[in-house]
Amino acid sequence: MAPTRPPASRPADFDPQETERQKRAAALAAAELVDDGARLGLGTGSTVAHLLPALAARGLRGLRCVATSPATEHAARALGLTIETLDELGELDIAIDGADQIDRRGWLVKGGGAAHTREKIVAAAARRFVVIVSAEKAVDAVSAPVPLEILRFGAAGTLRAVGPSRLREGPPSPDGNPIADYLGAVGDPAALAARLSGTPGVVEHGLFAPELVSDVLIAGPRGIEHRRGAKRD
Ligand code: 5RP
Repeated sequence: MAPTRPPASRPADFDPQETERQKRAAALAAAELVDDGARLGLGTGSTVAHLLPALAARGLRGLRCVATSPATEHAARALGLTIETLDELGELDIAIDGADQIDRRGWLVKGGGAAHTREKIVAAAARRFVVIVSAEKAVDAVSAPVPLEILRFGAAGTLRAVGPSRLREGPPSPDGNPIADYLGAVGDPAALAARLSGTPGVVEHGLFAPELVSDVLIAGPRGIEHRRGAKRD
């Protein structure tokens, strides 16, 4: 049975408790970047789950948020954060999200939680996009699996055209579409991204170009590394 979330390769000394501590540290640092009155995009996942209470605890005035998934929306509302639609908010001041991989060139892989299409829309709508990760997400070069949101119609043919890939079992995207993972070589991420975007039936892929990213906060055992991305206000 295919997993609901593809296993990422983990270092031999992977420590889940330390990883959780790092996710929280990155999330707390990102919460400090949000100002009163901000229009804020909220990503999805276990790292963002640490961000939400940190934001709520800051008691920011006039904060207006858009959520990239029902899970984030429910958690944010339960903490008293104001959720609106992206159309109501328009351009965002800042968006904060996790990632599955971040490489030396600034390429991301996202979509482990099946929400990458909404996350990419929100990242693109934000003047500043901040990525928060634990240290094991930092890699030399992004690699498979690369999540794909696809249309149910013609899904088998879409995946044949994509190449080595597997349909995920488990929850669909927040918009009800199936999620698959591309399992082949990545090589040049820009070329693969263009090929996947050009494949009929692929709604969106999980490769995020460096031009979408403003800041990356990588929390490790010795503190937080702050990498500047290519996106500037
Ligand atoms: C959801 C995502 C997540 O940001 C990504 O999978 C990282 O998740 P986590 O913070 O749980 O490690 O892209 O679609």
